Amino acid sequence: MTEKLAEKAVDISPIQQFLHCDTPQAWLEHAVSDLETLLIDHAHCEKKAAATAVKLMFRYPERIDLLKKLSQLIREEVLHFEQVLEFIEQQGIKYRAIKPSRYAAGLHQYVEKDEPNRFVDSLIIGGIIEARSCERFHALVPYLKDSHPELAKYYRFLLKSESRHFMDYIDLAKQYASESIEQRLQFFLTKEKELIESPDPLFRFHSGVPVLD
Ligand SMILES: [Fe+2]
Ligand SMILES: [Fe+2]
Repeated sequence: MTEKLAEKAVDISPIQQFLHCDTPQAWLEHAVSDLETLLIDHAHCEKKAAATAVKLMFRYPERIDLLKKLSQLIREEVLHFEQVLEFIEQQGIKYRAIKPSRYAAGLHQYVEKDEPNRFVDSLIIGGIIEARSCERFHALVPYLKDSHPELAKYYRFLLKSESRHFMDYIDLAKQYASESIEQRLQFFLTKEKELIESPDPLFRFHSGVPVLD
């Protein structure tokens, strides 16, 4: 993995500008104090990202560009899952099922029921989740580099693929939509900001501001 980790720095400023807010500092501080939950949920998110893309491939089998882009994405997400599991084992953490965060469901609740809007909304949400993941990996690096340099390096390595996944989803949404996606995109970005900036009692990779007990 060391050779693959020696990637060039990725400019994630388009992603930071795309999202309506940065990850709150309180979330970052909590994340480094609960690396076990962070890593377990991160592994879960990689698996979920692959599963969601597989579902889209089955739901829209005639969309060839979607099939091509998502099959590559799925291969990468499954590889990330394996790599995060490796970190989990190295840290002596036991991988287990944990309750998912409110985040993805909090966005999917607004997906329109009818086609083609359901399809476009799903792609927009896919893009937003990839963008947030990328922004969080990037924001975590300075918090991890002294205590967990290998993990910091790995999170920097993930920026390239996650920023490409973000673009792939948004490009697909634009390609398959019959009208401009801008209004729908801004709607979901506003909802996403609320999920990121409001108090959230359950700490997870995509959770909101941690609530102190
Ligand atoms: Fe990934
Ligand atoms: Fe991804």
